[in-house]
Amino acid sequence: MPRTILITGASSGLGLALLTHYATHSPQTHIIAIDISPLPHAHLSSLRHPAFSNISFYLADISSPTDLYRVSSNLETQGTTIDLLLHCAGVRGLVKRIAEQTRDVAASETWEVMERETFMKTMEVNTWGAFNVVKSFLPYLRGPGSIRTTTSETPSETSTPKDTEGGRPGSSWSGGAFAAGASRSRRTSVPGSIAEPPAAPHSNPTITPSKPKVILMSSRMGSISDNRTGGGYAYRASKAALNALIKSFAIDVPDATFLLLHPGRVETGLVGWREEGAMTVSEALPDVVRTIEAADEGWSGRLVDKTGKDIPW
Ligand SMILES: NC(=O)c1ccc[n+]([C@@H]2O[C@H](COP(=O)([O-])OP(=O)(O)OC[C@H]3O[C@@H](n4cnc5c(N)ncnc54)[C@H](OP(=O)(O)O)[C@@H]3O)[C@@H](O)[C@H]2O)c1
Repeated sequence: MPRTILITGASSGLGLALLTHYATHSPQTHIIAIDISPLPHAHLSSLRHPAFSNISFYLADISSPTDLYRVSSNLETQGTTIDLLLHCAGVRGLVKRIAEQTRDVAASETWEVMERETFMKTMEVNTWGAFNVVKSFLPYLRGPGSIRTTTSETPSETSTPKDTEGGRPGSSWSGGAFAAGASRSRRTSVPGSIAEPPAAPHSNPTITPSKPKVILMSSRMGSISDNRTGGGYAYRASKAALNALIKSFAIDVPDATFLLLHPGRVETGLVGWREEGAMTVSEALPDVVRTIEAADEGWSGRLVDKTGKDIPW
């Protein structure tokens, strides 16, 4: 069934694997891909294949409201609504200096080595960034009607040079050409109300009948009751806080399904080296996709592993 999927963290690891999966298996799907780093060269080449012509890539920092506003403005202009939001962007919260010296994950996140910069960056990306993604794109989720729960307006953050320079954040790659960010527009809405659905984007002939889904990569490390080994200060805190805020979204926005998903320990760019016992992305992907597809509204507000089994808070 043709649909629109927005994927953050699309340039690496699980996000890239999900982008490739959906582009390959559902070539009619429109994919909006976001990452702070460009898509890898090999993928850019393969994306020129007609099967990948429905991908729009945006270079954007998920923790920047300005960057995400540029993306959502484009959705607004194009009348695009989202059926499935896959939030994969994240950081591991290791103290860089120690990680480079030791190549030891546990040693790079003890209370002794943890410092403010790493801690705050981890919270900024994993917690605030996830909130920013959900808040920015909620008005563009498609469901029984498009969800209008927030006021999507020009963000008030102070623009940094990175935000204002042309080219990088906000530029998009769509079927072979980079395009500048969209013009700004304003959307006003009434909290909690459901508006008439806008015109279907990209001439998708079918509207997904179920509620739109927002699936966020969380982690078992965000489970407080499952913490038996200590350590992991920044990452654990950022994912526990992510879990808390998504639980609130699940209560506040019943018109969408929110799911926190622990993909398992997977060999990706998250840690700069291969960890003992980690699966490859291709080993993890089938279960992850099955659980994404199986999730329905009864699942909203749950934290599950990649097979859909509950993880205690
Ligand atoms: N891999 C695992 O074992 C595992 C286990 C449990 C949970 N998870 C979660 O799964 C998600 C995906 O992780 P992954 O393993 O696929 O890691 P990954 O390969 O590092 O992918 C994460 C992607 O997010 C991007 N990113 C980081 N900060 C960003 C920002 N501010 N704005 C936009 N994009 C940003 C990264 O770009 P850069 O590479 O430039 O930083 C990278 O492309 C994460 O939330 C992670 O916590 C992973």
